[in-house]
Amino acid sequence: MSQHNNTPSTFSHEKIETSNFLMIVLILLVIAVGGMVEIVPLFFQKSTTEPVKGVQPYTALQLVGRDVYIREGCYNCHSQMIRPFRAETLRYGHYSVAGEFVYDHPFQWGSKRTGPDLHRVGGKYSDEWHRIHLNNPRDVVPESNMPAYSWLDKAVVDPSVVAPRMKALRTVGVPYTDEQIAQGADEVKGKTEQDALVAYLQSLGRALK
Ligand code: HEC
Repeated sequence: MSQHNNTPSTFSHEKIETSNFLMIVLILLVIAVGGMVEIVPLFFQKSTTEPVKGVQPYTALQLVGRDVYIREGCYNCHSQMIRPFRAETLRYGHYSVAGEFVYDHPFQWGSKRTGPDLHRVGGKYSDEWHRIHLNNPRDVVPESNMPAYSWLDKAVVDPSVVAPRMKALRTVGVPYTDEQIAQGADEVKGKTEQDALVAYLQSLGRALK
């Protein structure tokens, strides 16, 4: 029974439990290994790295619209992540899958839903509906508490921002061709930020309707 009779072992749990430093180092090690085992395979799994059929990189105009969406903080009230529950799929359509977001840097999943989820809003309304809604949501949804974004209609897009954006996305794996990047500026020339935002909204979630 007594410790003294045992051959002294080089590894004693007591040593770890009585040393704060050793305990912290080993906890960090265990979490690091555990985390890596969970996270690293995701970088190589087809279902998370390959686009779902029909998912295309954003066009130049949609990309500018996406930047407007981020700048205006739409994600503070809208998620883009339909969970695989019946109540959600009945309301919004097919639940979101990882392969739909491979070209989203950064993704706009979110979890705050003051307004409805927007992941499958593409094609739900006409462009005209979106314009009226963005100018003053109350004109189409009287009880809405969404803010109006009427200035987007007057703000003209600066075409010079497009090529650097597309190039940056290419470095993180979005397959833009040199030709698409060269034509980007022309595509957004003369467009308003509202045009761009509507183009972005209409592109959302259409691959898996
Ligand atoms: C303060 C919270 C809030 C912010 C910020 C906000 N929204 Fe909304 N949004 C709502 C609410 C609430 C609704 C539901 C009522 C309505 O349709 O207006 C809504 C509805 C919508 C809808 C219609 C969705 C559907 O399926 O009917 C779209 C599209 C939309 N918002 C886009 C945007 C965009 C784009 C932005 C950023 C420019 C934005 N929202 C910012 C609260 C917000």
